[in-house]
Amino acid sequence: MATHPLVTAFQQAGQGHVFAHFEALDSAQQAELLADAAEVDLAEIAELNRTLVQANAAAGVDLSDLAPAPYEALPKHGGDAAAWADAKRLGEEALRAGRVAAFVVAGGQGTRLGYDGPKGTYPVTPILKKSLFQVFAEKLRAAGARYGKPLHWFIMTSHINHAATEAFFQEHKYFGLDPEHVHFFRQGRMPAVGFDGKILLEDKHRIAMSPDGHGGSLRALQRSGALDLMQREGIDILSYFQVDNPLVRFIDPAFIGWHLKTRSEMSSKMVPKAYAGEKVGHFCTQRGKTVVIEYSDLPKAMQEETDPATGKLRFVAGSIAIHLLDREFIRRMATGADALPFHRADKKIPCLDAAGNPVKPEKANGVKFEMFVFDALPFAKNPVIIETDRADDFSPVKNAEGVDSPKTCAEDQLRQFARWARANGAELPVDATGLPAFAFEVSPLFGYDEDSFAASWAASSPKPAISAGAVLE
Ligand code: UTP
Repeated sequence: MATHPLVTAFQQAGQGHVFAHFEALDSAQQAELLADAAEVDLAEIAELNRTLVQANAAAGVDLSDLAPAPYEALPKHGGDAAAWADAKRLGEEALRAGRVAAFVVAGGQGTRLGYDGPKGTYPVTPILKKSLFQVFAEKLRAAGARYGKPLHWFIMTSHINHAATEAFFQEHKYFGLDPEHVHFFRQGRMPAVGFDGKILLEDKHRIAMSPDGHGGSLRALQRSGALDLMQREGIDILSYFQVDNPLVRFIDPAFIGWHLKTRSEMSSKMVPKAYAGEKVGHFCTQRGKTVVIEYSDLPKAMQEETDPATGKLRFVAGSIAIHLLDREFIRRMATGADALPFHRADKKIPCLDAAGNPVKPEKANGVKFEMFVFDALPFAKNPVIIETDRADDFSPVKNAEGVDSPKTCAEDQLRQFARWARANGAELPVDATGLPAFAFEVSPLFGYDEDSFAASWAASSPKPAISAGAVLE
């Protein structure tokens, strides 16, 4: 029988071992392995082996000429109040014109949380235990009603959770959204390699493949037809957010307005770091470009450096993974000469050894390749960064316990509900951190930000009673 051209290509690339068990597989398994192999770009893997695997991993990140990135401060921190008001007006106009769509990246594996299922299905709200997806869906419904224009929602999944994610939405009738406005697509995959650069097998008929990182979203948006759909619908701005953060204001008129008025192709929200060593990416400039340097790459001395005049942290702008991206910028990144770099992550990867026996490694035995969306920033024209209040935009569920856990996230939601209620005159006991004495819940359909909450509150007669277990809907 003639050798399959893919088998020959793998042999020529020094990856022939991938087909070592091919003859012993049944025809369905052979087809599966060939389908996996067809997804692998052998030239790309050869290049990554040369640049990331064989090269000293620590050689890494270029830290030359780094300076703190400028940002638009909130008015209460000295920003220009008139400019913020103008931005908000512009953003509202764009929302009424239907120029903005929401985009959540939900292809991650959520290993730290250790939850069995797509992370977006995780129950997060304090009383009703609504899932992350339901919270976002209701924010979208409320914003669509507020601006008189239903919003489209793009949801990026991975091969691991795609079917379960779609089934969850079907089971819950899309949480009241029009299914025509909800668009699922899978992100790409990358094969894992051993430290010798050899592609790892998960099984005799399966390559060890994993999602290509949130940066893979740019190519996936193009490939899936999402950008064409946006164009047909007159949508030119995509609001990017992560699936693990129920606080995120992804329909934020002021942010959209800043993006528009500065003619930015990719905009970002920052929060001032809570402390020098906080584990967030740092917004910096480098020879005229905006870059994000991860905390693990920024030397401790720079993380801790203070401004002699003010005593404040110099590299203060922390990234919270909230961006606006222009449709045509995404297209350029996905199809043009500029491409996002890959990062190397050393991981424990269950695989087969050379004899075909399964191995469950105790320590890292190979490398996964991932792209990060913030690496698009240096390619964007006029990237603008705006400050936001952490309490209004960021409380992710990352870990099962401790920082950024379901507990801290539920408490931050409670603080937000209490803040909104008190700002509108409700009497509610809170502790020094703003945490109310009892749990209650505000549905995004009642209020998903300060303004929408205030509008519903003003329209309510009598005013909602807020007590333990109450739900404002
Ligand atoms: P994280 O970096 O927190 O990774 O992803 P994770 O996979 O969710 O969790 P751990 O690290 O395994 O515990 C940040 C966001 O990027 C998305 C995630 O779904 C999350 O919304 N993401 C990450 C993708 O969509 N694809 C990826 O390949 C990686």
